[in-house]
Amino acid sequence: MSTQSLSAGKPGNLKGFWQQGQTLFLDYEGAVLSITVLDKNMVRFRLAPGGTFAKRRSWSVTSPDEDFPASPYTFTPTPNGIEITTETLLLKLSNAGARISILNNQGLLINEDSSEGAVFWESEGKTIWRKTMPEDEHYYGFGERSGLLDKRGRRYTCWTTDPWQYTSDHGPGADSLYQAIPFFMALRQETGCYGIYLNNTHRTAFDMGNPRSNQYSIEIEGGEMDYYFIYGPEPAQVLERYTFLTGRMPMPPRWALGYHQSRWSYDNEQIVRGIASQFRERGIPAEVIHLDIDYMDEFRVFTWNKTNFPDPAKLISDLNAQGFKVVTIIDPGVKHQPEGGYHVYSEGSAQGYFITNPDGTEYTGCVWPGTSVFADFTRTDVRKWWNDQHNELLAEGVKGIWNDMNEPAISQYPFGTPNNPVASPSLDAPMGDPEERITFAEGKNVYGLLMDRATHEAMLRFNPNERPFMLTRSGAAGIQRYSTVWSGDNLTLWEHLEMSIAEICNWSLSGVGFSGVDIGGFGGHGTPELFARWIQLGAFYPFSRGHSIEKVSQKEPWTWGSEVEEISRRALTLRYRLMPYLYSLFYTAAQTGAPIWQPLLYQFSKDTTTYQISDQVMVGHAIMLAPICRPGQTTRAVYMPEGVWYDFWSDERLTKPGYRLVEAELDTIPMFMRGGTIVPFGTEMQYSDEKPLDLITLEVYPDANGSATGVLYEDDGHSFGYQHGEFCLTRFQCAVENGKTKISAQRQGQYAPAPRAIEIWVHGEGEARSYQLPRDSGNWQVEV
Ligand code: GLC
Repeated sequence: MSTQSLSAGKPGNLKGFWQQGQTLFLDYEGAVLSITVLDKNMVRFRLAPGGTFAKRRSWSVTSPDEDFPASPYTFTPTPNGIEITTETLLLKLSNAGARISILNNQGLLINEDSSEGAVFWESEGKTIWRKTMPEDEHYYGFGERSGLLDKRGRRYTCWTTDPWQYTSDHGPGADSLYQAIPFFMALRQETGCYGIYLNNTHRTAFDMGNPRSNQYSIEIEGGEMDYYFIYGPEPAQVLERYTFLTGRMPMPPRWALGYHQSRWSYDNEQIVRGIASQFRERGIPAEVIHLDIDYMDEFRVFTWNKTNFPDPAKLISDLNAQGFKVVTIIDPGVKHQPEGGYHVYSEGSAQGYFITNPDGTEYTGCVWPGTSVFADFTRTDVRKWWNDQHNELLAEGVKGIWNDMNEPAISQYPFGTPNNPVASPSLDAPMGDPEERITFAEGKNVYGLLMDRATHEAMLRFNPNERPFMLTRSGAAGIQRYSTVWSGDNLTLWEHLEMSIAEICNWSLSGVGFSGVDIGGFGGHGTPELFARWIQLGAFYPFSRGHSIEKVSQKEPWTWGSEVEEISRRALTLRYRLMPYLYSLFYTAAQTGAPIWQPLLYQFSKDTTTYQISDQVMVGHAIMLAPICRPGQTTRAVYMPEGVWYDFWSDERLTKPGYRLVEAELDTIPMFMRGGTIVPFGTEMQYSDEKPLDLITLEVYPDANGSATGVLYEDDGHSFGYQHGEFCLTRFQCAVENGKTKISAQRQGQYAPAPRAIEIWVHGEGEARSYQLPRDSGNWQVEV
């Protein structure tokens, strides 16, 4: 029997169990619960109300159960049910109703199903699993979310949505946004952190205490209740396992870490050339220009408007010579042009590659080109065909693809029509490969993810020796494997500036490390002061791009007057000086899943004050930012967690934990360096490969014992050589021995960076002391 024909119910009493490898199956009067021990801290639960498990879907999870090395576990029937132990966890399953309690090996209860009943189903796959919600537990992640950091007390739907179509806003009240990543983390001081990944791409929801504050629920509208429980106890450990499961961001090309400039729309090549020249003439670092929809011929994807962009290859090569790369936007909506003359439509239609209505006719809806059709990216052959379409763009020198509107966002009437209702293929629309037929109800949430996969594969195919760069608006669990993400259409509001911190941090805690929001805000004009504060912070976003809607005032850094121009120059110059540190963070992210931006709790998980700090952020392990997010403010309270900190600007050494008031005039973002770290800085550059790095400055910030460590990762910045040992990883160490401070560097890897001078600044109670090393020829040790 399948769940389809089931009426409402819940698991009955435990009638039997059987074991198959790492999995234990428990029969609760016809409903079967499977429990798979994947490793000592990760257990997968699946429920088949009718006894038959659903087919496995491969879209998000890259590590199927078989890929995990067998991890020892035992199970024991007890009078109350069954107990399963791994090296670190004890799971207790009740005799009635499949109620689960999870304890760690010290006997601490980490998570427990609701005492009112664990799980029940209402109809056709609509299943709800309820868990208790301790008062002091806080929740993070849930993919792309607006609002503050801690997600306790609200309901979060996972259903890819363009909020602009509903309210022209994605403010704190918005629920579903463009991406659907059904993963969250729970954190308590006493028991640490665990994560739950819900492996289901239908519309799902997490109800975190609404209406009842003592329980939360995991809800699915179709498919199978299938979730992974991941214990930390550190947030970093949860993330490491979650990103093992759904994949990690690969190393991006170094240029992608530079500043990107965009606007809807740089309409013709003169404008684009002008923008590039302005950056260079004004000495404001930047290296990527994004072309929004107006580069196309009447918004037909994979075409150029040849009047406004007569020779794209020449334009791109000229921009390259100035140190700029070009990224072009691509939308999934293909202009419906049955009369012929547009090969993307005619080929796709002839092959039956577009999503159909349930009756098999081509589905049409309106996007930029007017009436459009939509490729079925859940099909392998369609992805391959879409992949083919990129050949020309990439051959012309386009270096990155920006996939937009891929929720997919569709209207009933052409854009611009008043009161234009949202449109969508029917939830019953058939999709998928012949051996994996699904409906749109299951495919919608992964539509963007699979479009991105097609693009990613195209980039690897046409430029096999270059690391791809992509940007996407929609996505699902695992999107980090293919693409950088941004938060779509934010508004030019102070509130949205502040919200970007928690938004990026919650993305980070959902496995997505390379993210950003439109610097300056997409919708609206803004003020010079807002832009100044935004670019100060945006210069540290993992993905740093200024972008704006059309028909509002220009928002490039120089358009706000000389003071803001200078502030922008200073902010972006600092980003480029920090490139060695940032690039090293990306390396760690690619290795372990550790995000670039981290909420304070990620580093200070025992400090409960950090659990709800939404307006400060760690950039990696060493830098803490406390941006000003209100007009007219030049003072703010900053929370300093335990330890030694150094004010980056004044070099003041701070040792008193707790809140302190900090001054920050318009040209300054409050920034603190963490004691115990060594941060590698490079030299000023207009773009990342402008010139060889001939000087590395090591800023040494000792902890209370005078010790510090740091890492510098280097490679050629664009190829895959690093995967075969062509990298150079230098570990720096500073320690005090017999009253003397010793600093050393140890190298690993086969890549040899050009020799360069090393300058060391040791910060401390008084003035920083500086030392020069003549040439860096590998390993060294100095006494300072
Ligand atoms: C969408 C994107 C936005 C882009 C616009 C035009 O609204 O989110 O970034 O500028 O479409 O392509």
